[in-house]
Amino acid sequence: MINVAVLGYGTVGSGIVEVFNTNQESINKKAGNDIHVKYVLDLREFPGDPVMDILVHDYNIILNDPEVEVIAEVLGGVEPAYTFVKSALEKGKSVCTSNKELVAKHGPELLEIARKHNRNFLFEASVGGGIPIIRPLNQSLTADEITHITGILNGTTNYILTKMSKEGLDFDTVLKEAQDLGYAERNPSADVDGFDACRKIAILASLAYGYNVDFEEIYTEGITKITDVDFKYANKMGRSIKLFGNANKVEDKFYAYVAPVMIDSEHPLFSVNGVFNGILVNGNVLGDVMFYGSGAGKLPTASAVVSDIVDAVKHLNTNIMSFWSSKKLELTDIRLSAKKFFVRVSGSVEDKLQAVEAAFGKVEVVLAEGVENEFGFVTEVITEEKYEEASKKVEGVITRIRMED
Ligand code: HSE
Repeated sequence: MINVAVLGYGTVGSGIVEVFNTNQESINKKAGNDIHVKYVLDLREFPGDPVMDILVHDYNIILNDPEVEVIAEVLGGVEPAYTFVKSALEKGKSVCTSNKELVAKHGPELLEIARKHNRNFLFEASVGGGIPIIRPLNQSLTADEITHITGILNGTTNYILTKMSKEGLDFDTVLKEAQDLGYAERNPSADVDGFDACRKIAILASLAYGYNVDFEEIYTEGITKITDVDFKYANKMGRSIKLFGNANKVEDKFYAYVAPVMIDSEHPLFSVNGVFNGILVNGNVLGDVMFYGSGAGKLPTASAVVSDIVDAVKHLNTNIMSFWSSKKLELTDIRLSAKKFFVRVSGSVEDKLQAVEAAFGKVEVVLAEGVENEFGFVTEVITEEKYEEASKKVEGVITRIRMED
């Protein structure tokens, strides 16, 4: 029998206990061993919940119990998770986590400690919730050089953008609705400002390219400036607006960004709606492969953590190698990358088009129904740098959204 401890009895922690209660027998079969949740750590009490029988408030009880071989860390945040995880690995326990803040900040160091002790540090649930993406990157896509990864990596913002697109509602109304439904946090900044997606694409890019991508160096733009008027133009063009986390390799340069992007209906991620996540990976020999599913939520996330626990049990004394060096991956400034831009400008086409084309070169004008005193246009493929220069030459630029085909 293998004893496991769960750190944190919040949404995901209670989901882990529920997953074991629901599927204990089949999980044991797949692990080739009986798995027993010996402890749950939480500062709170849960009167009436059977978890009280195994609840502890002191982490040292778990750390110093040699019978505990695998720990699931679902506390979230960097501390005390980092201290707990590091000490567990140093004591020769494997750790499975859903904590993207921890993985993005300390991933290579914790992987190295696990390697030294012949244990495992696994983090399938840290990106894409229940979607298997970490294990495929580590173990399945190994024949390929990854050229790009494009992901809808945040369920909250995808829910908001989908509602805005389909119901013509403005950002604040939908955010409030998402908060009332419990999808968005009361402080929604990590989601709507793109920081959550930024950490997730940093983790994926680090695994894909083998070097450490510092999430703080990734250009990150959230969705707070996207309006219902932007969607009127998007709908007119048969497009949608999605928050993308993107990492790509062009020749020997690496780019990464998080930003809202207008995509057309042919794009594989076009139909990823609501709280779902989708991740499109391109390998140089495989071509495109796409992963889709529940990117957040109690049971999907718990399912991914339990799958890591099973993997840890199957590899108790064997380190499952991950290709993520602590050596830094130098990202190229995204201002040097090129794409089309959708731009809104105040005034009329008659008055402004000449100045617009003098600055941007040839553009395609877009007019949206019911939108007055402004128009939209799509540029040719230009660099971000060129966009910035050109937009300064035109008076009345309201907004711009990047485009991808
Ligand atoms: N806040 C995150 C989301 C939770 O909305 O996707 C899962 O990481």
